[in-house]
Amino acid sequence: MPRARLEVRSATVEAPPNIALVKYWGCRDPELVLPYNSSVSVTLAGLRSRTRVRFDPELSADRVVLNGAPAAGSPREAAIRMLDRVRERAGLGLRAEVTSDNNFPTASGLASSASGFAALAGAASAAAGLDLSPRELSRLARLGSGSAARSVFGGFVLWRAGTRSDGRDSYARTIFGPAHWPQLADVVVLIENAPEKAVRSAEAMQATVRTSPDYPGRLERLPGEIDRIVRAIGARDADRLFPLVMEECDSFRDVCETTRPSLDYLTPASRAVLSEVRVLNRAAGRPVAAYTHDAGAHVHVFTLDRHLRSVRRALAALPGVRATQVVRPGAGAHLVERNGRRVRRAAEGRRRRART
Ligand code: DP6
Repeated sequence: MPRARLEVRSATVEAPPNIALVKYWGCRDPELVLPYNSSVSVTLAGLRSRTRVRFDPELSADRVVLNGAPAAGSPREAAIRMLDRVRERAGLGLRAEVTSDNNFPTASGLASSASGFAALAGAASAAAGLDLSPRELSRLARLGSGSAARSVFGGFVLWRAGTRSDGRDSYARTIFGPAHWPQLADVVVLIENAPEKAVRSAEAMQATVRTSPDYPGRLERLPGEIDRIVRAIGARDADRLFPLVMEECDSFRDVCETTRPSLDYLTPASRAVLSEVRVLNRAAGRPVAAYTHDAGAHVHVFTLDRHLRSVRRALAALPGVRATQVVRPGAGAHLVERNGRRVRRAAEGRRRRART
């Protein structure tokens, strides 16, 4: 009897990065990527990882190609761990080829692990024939990189830390859609000679948990902060939101700097951006802009359309600033192709309308 023909199965997913307004930093369970605190982010339009997964009976080993070059070491291992999780769930034994590229610099503080793992989780599960809900996809992406749990969704996103030890209640969701606050802009300030991240955030944050004397205080304050930040976003109230965003970023930087050995992600040019935002706010007599940054040297500066030109001009003029790019809240991860067939984006529009 002829053997059943094992078919090649493929899927392509595009996923955006996100910038956290309330940072995820520290895990109660690093294996399952279960955080100590909930976090809030904005999903960024126009930037994306695009990842294709192809399960192929002809392959004898997994192949991972990132930004045109074969991956090695831990990025390759992390991708294969995600493939293994998906294969186990789908009861699939086939090896896969993963090809992924970003339209923005990798490991530069623009959260490529968030978009990368959201795209990989989506593409691998779709290619394997699993029909995961966005919530299931968020949980799966979380296992690759915590911040990826949020990139599944568009707009303003809340990742609830959850309390269960199996992680079933630790996933993200949209709290306000991408069109909620059209006047809000994120000026991404790209810093010259931004160093590549030496240690993955997932590891660095556990050093903070172990050694920063300020970490327990941060955890105590965060639930109240998150409440205030979510309410300010809901009310589209920049006067309330902007100071809160900067305080939260300062708290994140403080626990990094008080980690032993100290974690310092900023360059002098990044620090000049933070100072300039403070100067602009003082000169205006009210908060016209808010800075925040992740574990990298680039800085995101939120402002409103009516201040955008002047804020951007002031930041672009600072020494050590390579470029500025204006980014808006955008849609979450979406399927582009499955088994060679293009997929339309109807589901995304429905999801955006359904949430507030
Ligand atoms: C500072 O979940 O992105 O960006 O996968 O190791 O890079 P790695 O960790 P990741 O850590 C995110 C840390 C953060 C804050 C945030 O995005 O909430």
